[in-house]
Amino acid sequence: MDNLIAIEGVKRTIFGRGAVNTIGEECSLLKAKSALFVIDKGLFNTKVFFKIKESLDSTGIETHIYPEITPEPSPELADRGAEIARQKGVDCILAVGGGSTLDVGKAIGVLATNTGKAEDYIGLDLVKNPGLPTIMVPTTAGTGSEVTFTAVFTMRERKKKGGINSRYLYPTVAVLDPELTIGLPPDVTAYTGMDALTHAIESYTSLKANFLSEIISFKAIELIVKNIIDAFRNGDDIHTREEMLKGSYMAGLGLAMAGVGAVHALAYPLGAFFDIPHGIANSVMLPYVVRYNLKSSEEKFSKIAGAMGINNSVERLPEYIFNLIKELRLPCTLNELEVPREDIDKMAEAAILVERPIKNNPRPVDIDSIKRIYEDAFEGM
Ligand SMILES: [Fe+2]
Repeated sequence: MDNLIAIEGVKRTIFGRGAVNTIGEECSLLKAKSALFVIDKGLFNTKVFFKIKESLDSTGIETHIYPEITPEPSPELADRGAEIARQKGVDCILAVGGGSTLDVGKAIGVLATNTGKAEDYIGLDLVKNPGLPTIMVPTTAGTGSEVTFTAVFTMRERKKKGGINSRYLYPTVAVLDPELTIGLPPDVTAYTGMDALTHAIESYTSLKANFLSEIISFKAIELIVKNIIDAFRNGDDIHTREEMLKGSYMAGLGLAMAGVGAVHALAYPLGAFFDIPHGIANSVMLPYVVRYNLKSSEEKFSKIAGAMGINNSVERLPEYIFNLIKELRLPCTLNELEVPREDIDKMAEAAILVERPIKNNPRPVDIDSIKRIYEDAFEGM
């Protein structure tokens, strides 16, 4: 029934400096004997890797390492991981890295207990059986993947992206340690942070927002806006990193409950057709979609403007966000990203098919309004 609210999510969260040292213990609490350790290619054999390995070894758990994960992953990466998981008979999946690695880890968890390949499950509620328990350890303050029920894949040869969306993808444990995000370069800090801000704003204003998600999403907006510039400029500050990680975690919780909107839908073709990273694609579209949505949910956007310190002038919100993106040295227009303008029709046709975010958007969108928003995004503000 449409009037009912169902709230579910990650079972357990460990948050704080040094949380990473509890990973071995968390595996033991799950009664796991053998874990598949899925990790970003770039993190393999780094300090982070050895720290976690040590925590696992101290509990005597058998570990199989899968260090192959690269950004905007293909479904085959999950298929290969699932094959190892089945072959080795692991009973727990541990994923350490950015959103891409966490998505692959979540998908491996369900592929290990279901037949077929990752691509067979792209869609909503297609997974038949619950998966293996999963422990998610984000190293960016961005996607919120450690608490969501989605795993997104890129099918490059077909220029498509798609997600496995299933309640069986909710992670069992999220381990959030701000110390892991200290080494993140400024550009990655900026665009993963803008992805988190997009989750917070879109879930807060989503038509599916509920009494609980609104509180969580709004708090996420406050935390991210207050800290994103500092995290970008002064990445070694642990307090700022901690606040950003709280913000992206809460934005993820808000998104898991209320979904996202037209920013994510319009960002989708940028990733699928031009391989633009998810965070950059969302960031570039955010001010233009906010301008389009402004009147539809004025009270909420006024509160967002208040959180950004521009009280009394909700009209200035899109420009404020635009300037924030500039300050973070991220692309502000589709021209800067060298997107061909003649592809607007093709992009709009793909964006309108991203059904759930389109439906959640506070103002109705159709193909013509999408084209207009893309036109705006070529022009700038
Ligand atoms: Fe996102």
